[in-house]
Amino acid sequence: MNSIRLGEIDSRLARVFEDNRNIYRKLKQLLVTCTQSNSLHDVCHMFPYLQEHLIHHFQMEETLMGQNYPGFSAHKSAHQALQQDFSVLWEEHTQTGPSTSLIAKMILFVLTLLVDHHQEHDRPMEKYLLEKFHLV
Ligand SMILES: [Fe+2]
Repeated sequence: MNSIRLGEIDSRLARVFEDNRNIYRKLKQLLVTCTQSNSLHDVCHMFPYLQEHLIHHFQMEETLMGQNYPGFSAHKSAHQALQQDFSVLWEEHTQTGPSTSLIAKMILFVLTLLVDHHQEHDRPMEKYLLEKFHLV
């Protein structure tokens, strides 16, 4: 388990949950801004946020689950695929600037992260950690 103490696991898991709540809040903020602003620049605040937080969030999950976790390889591969997908969006964002197409792709990316990835990979990891360390 990469020599993490039990208290650290508890606080890091809480941080992972908080990160997911913050990403959800950013998505909601993005959608609200889409309904209220005519400026595409106004709705792009999510790109720098994800650029800054996504890799750290994935690394924290990978450290938490540890290489002995049965789903480690699949979960890590899913993180790499998401990072690649985000890199493509970030490249488009920096090269061509905001567009309705890019914002739609960002919404799809975040939904994939929060719904599909969370259901397929994060939830089983959280359940495993909570049970393994008797945190439930
Ligand atoms: Fe994950």
